[in-house]
Amino acid sequence: MGSELTPIDKAKFVAAKQATEYVENGMKLGLGTGSTAAWFVTCLGEMVRDDGLKLTCVATSDETASLARQVGLKVVSLEEARWLDLTVDGTDEFDETLALIKGGGGALLREKIVATASDRMMVIADASKRVAQLGAFPLPVEVVPFGAAITGGLIQEMLIGMDVLGREAVLRMEGDTPFVTDEGNYILDLHLKHIGDPRRISFMLNQIPGVIENGLFIDICDTVIVGHGDGKVTVRDFTNNSAEIHHYDVRDDDNIFMDIED
Ligand code: 5RP
Repeated sequence: MGSELTPIDKAKFVAAKQATEYVENGMKLGLGTGSTAAWFVTCLGEMVRDDGLKLTCVATSDETASLARQVGLKVVSLEEARWLDLTVDGTDEFDETLALIKGGGGALLREKIVATASDRMMVIADASKRVAQLGAFPLPVEVVPFGAAITGGLIQEMLIGMDVLGREAVLRMEGDTPFVTDEGNYILDLHLKHIGDPRRISFMLNQIPGVIENGLFIDICDTVIVGHGDGKVTVRDFTNNSAEIHHYDVRDDDNIFMDIED
């Protein structure tokens, strides 16, 4: 990443910065995956270095674990941590009920396990992730590689009669071969365009043999922090039903990624 922060980088950075306000010494934290979550991980690294904070972290992907270790965070397995105080992650979409679509980075399975093993899950995002209705972003579904095409067909059959506007299931690729998740599975991206009843779709997807988990997070996230390119941050917190606005002064030399190796 170059030294100039784009407005989107600034939005992600200020959202991540605001999320660090919820971090306390001694906490066990879940670390999300993706570019926004990476800002949070890097901010945490700074806090550990500068303020001597003691944190124990569980990463939702190998990529995040590697970044976390690089910035000086202690990373353990979920078994070692047993339970987490707080998970902070990005999202692909969120609606006004704080239902999410996640898995754009292919880490939805570990992300859902880690978020569910946490007292709180907080999402950090730029404003482009807010939607009136979920579904414009293709819904990722993690499936067992064995018979993945058959599983995709069963999913499409199940979607007949559901409140969706599309039923295409696309195997996610990485070059010429299927993308493989950290758990050794494939991802089918469902182009639903509109998800009228996310709870029902989520339930029905997980009934299909071969489906391991889907990217709908319902009743899991309790707080969404939205950053904006001008430094404004809004916090919607369902734990105390509050809505707050904050403001950060972001300078270009705040690019804390400059020290990190690619
Ligand atoms: C990874 C995810 C990410 O949180 C999601 O894709 C958002 O990523 P980004 O912050 O890069 O936009 O669910 O599986």
